[in-house]
Amino acid sequence: MSTRPRIARTVPALRRAMEPFARATVALVPTMGALHDGHIALVRQARKRARRVVVSIFVNPTQFAPNEDFGSYPRTFNSDLKALAAEKVELVWAPTAQVMYPEGFATKIDPQGAAKVGLEDTFRPHFFSGVATVVAKLFTQVRPDCALFGEKDYQQLRVVTAMARDLDLGVKVIGIPTVREKDGLAMSSRNAYLTEHERKMAPVLYRTLKASAKAIKQGETIERVLEQGRAHIEQAGFALDYLEARNAGTLAKVQSLKDGPLRLLVAAKIGKTRLIDNIAI
Ligand code: PAJ
Repeated sequence: MSTRPRIARTVPALRRAMEPFARATVALVPTMGALHDGHIALVRQARKRARRVVVSIFVNPTQFAPNEDFGSYPRTFNSDLKALAAEKVELVWAPTAQVMYPEGFATKIDPQGAAKVGLEDTFRPHFFSGVATVVAKLFTQVRPDCALFGEKDYQQLRVVTAMARDLDLGVKVIGIPTVREKDGLAMSSRNAYLTEHERKMAPVLYRTLKASAKAIKQGETIERVLEQGRAHIEQAGFALDYLEARNAGTLAKVQSLKDGPLRLLVAAKIGKTRLIDNIAI
């Protein structure tokens, strides 16, 4: 039998719950809940890297635009707790929006660099400011030694890594490879929105990433490969936001393999659901 993790909902309660952790190493896994095997992979890595694991569950309103899915985002708190109990997570930090953003809240972090390269930031202009602000708060609330983030959200990983360094937050940010379904689709809480037909089409993104990466590695011209990839994704019924090859560190634009190491990133909508994915070249 696994015991249910302790749940803290206010900053003083979090501090009290963390008192016994004072001399232990602590790893934080920030999430918005609706946990799947991708999140659990982060928890397992956290367990390997620290004595104590804290998982935060907070659907952060400031990273959603008014036309996005904040209201309908899946909230499965009870089954999330069960999954975390099975991983022996001792503490869940689950603040309310009132605790995170009390009346009069008036500060935000406005990341630059990898947050302004014309990928997610073009389609979700307020996203990285919302993410950076909430992650900075989570880091200062929990004060972990390290925090784990998925490569699935690659631009987010780069932005958070730079923020922790630039602001001397004292948290080592660790990236974890993307966990996929058997057919290659990157696990995501938003996959729950897909209809049966959309779910069948969804792996086209990963297949296109793989085929494009292979062609680029074999020396084909990057722009030509990307044009073919874009056409392929659109023919499969997606509305494409971007398919781009970028420098894996800075996310700057690239001309050739020499500008590498490279990362291939995609975002596209199928029906009402927006999916993102990326792989190394
Ligand atoms: P969420 O989408 O819940 O993701 C939480 C963490 O799990 C992120 O670091 C994300 O990259 C990682 N993750 C999601 N799917 C994954 C997969 N298939 N394989 C590996 N890791 C995966 O990302 C957020 O929440 C929020 O923006 C947050 C950082 C919590 C700030 O609100």
